[in-house]
Amino acid sequence: MDTVTTIADVRARVRAWKREGARIAFVPTMGNLHAGHVSLIELARRHGERFVASIFVNPMQFGPNEDFAHYPRTPARDADMLRAAGCDLMFMPDVAEVYGQGAGAPTRIEVPVISTTLCGEFRPGHFEGVATVVAKLFNIVQPDVAIFGEKDFQQLAVIQRMSADLCFPVAIVGAPTVREADGLAMSSRNQYLTGAERAIAPRIHAALSAAIRSIATGAADLAAIERAGAESLAAHGFRIDYFAVRRRADLAAPTPADRELVVLAAARIGKARLIDNLQVDR
Ligand code: PAJ
Repeated sequence: MDTVTTIADVRARVRAWKREGARIAFVPTMGNLHAGHVSLIELARRHGERFVASIFVNPMQFGPNEDFAHYPRTPARDADMLRAAGCDLMFMPDVAEVYGQGAGAPTRIEVPVISTTLCGEFRPGHFEGVATVVAKLFNIVQPDVAIFGEKDFQQLAVIQRMSADLCFPVAIVGAPTVREADGLAMSSRNQYLTGAERAIAPRIHAALSAAIRSIATGAADLAAIERAGAESLAAHGFRIDYFAVRRRADLAAPTPADRELVVLAAARIGKARLIDNLQVDR
């Protein structure tokens, strides 16, 4: 695996692979890799002959009071994990390389409606930052396929929408959420949990599981399911941002005719804000 830090070096490498006819699969990350990220690389290997991963903690997607400065950065360990997973190229740019020296007012990509609900309501500007950096990374790497985790279901939906609207020639593939044995979705932010918080964190998955069981067995009062989920988490000490049943296609409130649903939760405990979701058909 090669490691490069400049756009020019990524382009040179990718151009040579494309000349050989290789399909390029891409996994963008913010580093501090865990088994969830590795599963994306492994899926990427089924979609292309060459695999590129980026590691870039994107300042534009963090709010002023969020954890940009403290976000865990472990580049040497990340490189070892990517190499072991069969990655060909690791792109690790600095902020100036991605945003230019005058990063104060970069061109922004706004994906309307779907970006303003759920996490968008609690993290204003977050999905603009995500869409902008992913568009930049697509233009830098020029992949044929890019893999994103269903763990960040709204992010995946925003990127699918952006790619379709802007005619990016990139197939967007979703990958299933990788969990700890007790159900907690793997996340770099789980490190912010104290021992006691870590012990109750799996309650999010438990509450989502209860909600999808109710829906799958015919419960029709979705507002009651949302209330029960939020109340069960609050009873364990979480501060709830949302516990919501939405339709999968566009994250709008489901009509009685919608069959393909997703239940999403965001809840804070201590210093951590945890998100998770489960899909269900009815
Ligand atoms: P990051 O949080 O590092 O996640 C990188 C990718 O790994 C995302 O597609 C995310 O959905 C996926 N992922 C994280 N935890 C996962 C898990 N437990 N199971 C499966 N996949 C998981 O998401 C970002 O970075 C950034 O917003 C980014 C897209 C890189 C733009 O900056």
